[in-house]
Amino acid sequence: MHVFQKSSTPPTSGSSAIAFGELAGYNGVLLAQKGGHLGSGDAVAEANGRISSGSLIFCHASTLCGPTKSGMRYPLFLRMRTAVISDIHGNLEALQVVLTSIDQRGVDRIVCLGDVLGYGPNPVECVDLVAERCEWCLLGNHDLAALYEPTNFNEVAERAAYWTRKQLEAVTDADQRRARWELLGRLRVRVQEGDFLAVHGTPRKPINEYLFPEDVQSGTRKFEQIFARVPRYGMQGHTHVPGVFTAEPEFYSPEELGEGPWSLPTDEQLIFNPGSVGQPRDGDPRASYAILETSEGEDKTTLEFIREPYDIEAVAAKIIAEPELADWLGERLREGR
Ligand SMILES: [Fe+2]
Repeated sequence: MHVFQKSSTPPTSGSSAIAFGELAGYNGVLLAQKGGHLGSGDAVAEANGRISSGSLIFCHASTLCGPTKSGMRYPLFLRMRTAVISDIHGNLEALQVVLTSIDQRGVDRIVCLGDVLGYGPNPVECVDLVAERCEWCLLGNHDLAALYEPTNFNEVAERAAYWTRKQLEAVTDADQRRARWELLGRLRVRVQEGDFLAVHGTPRKPINEYLFPEDVQSGTRKFEQIFARVPRYGMQGHTHVPGVFTAEPEFYSPEELGEGPWSLPTDEQLIFNPGSVGQPRDGDPRASYAILETSEGEDKTTLEFIREPYDIEAVAAKIIAEPELADWLGERLREGR
């Protein structure tokens, strides 16, 4: 039984604002709600003016605004489109394609659920792009491994973690090197914004625990404990498998949900996984991410899963050319495993 309903709201366009490590866009929503008194005409216009002089960047005037007594326009609903990316794993080609795709879809901000590092051949470039483009990024287990120590990693992953650390240490500009380490050291393990909790692993064990689609067969206690920590909705990465979990428990793949965007239920908890940008493992080798659209004024949220092809052979060739990275890490990209 699907918990989702097909959304009748078409995607809207917006602009991007980057403030890594801050919650500028979402705080804008809260400020608008508190100060705006939605629907009260000039009071809203006043609030909107106050916000737009600050960090609010997500009011889509063409579709959401109406006239006030003074002829100004004010928001009826405050809508924000958030691109959710995860598990980039040093795959620069995939990340660049995903960022281009995001730029073409009218997204207001980008957030990342962790594992920027590990496995892939371009960790430094990926850290820089995430820092430049994402509003915030979580700490994944592979980021932790490169920063500190790989624990419970298989030999291939462990060697890749040490190689990744070497790349970050080999940067000759001391200021740049220090800035990247500091940025990685500041990554949080969880971010809560209103009804949403974001983690890399699970809300119960935010860095290392997996929640696989197969877990719905056996793990009601696991789901109870995980969903007890979810306010209404959760988002997580780590498995590299896109889809939606309910508390039932059930799992729905993007294929089962059909072409999005889909309206999230308002009376049911769920956790979604946007899949992996740089190392998908659901049998589809294309880069995976999701776009979440929240409309505060009408308590409506939609979710859309997106796949993008990228130059897998270019990435595989770089991995295979690097002796410290196992060839298999390149080969698996072709299969999406
Ligand atoms: Fe990962």
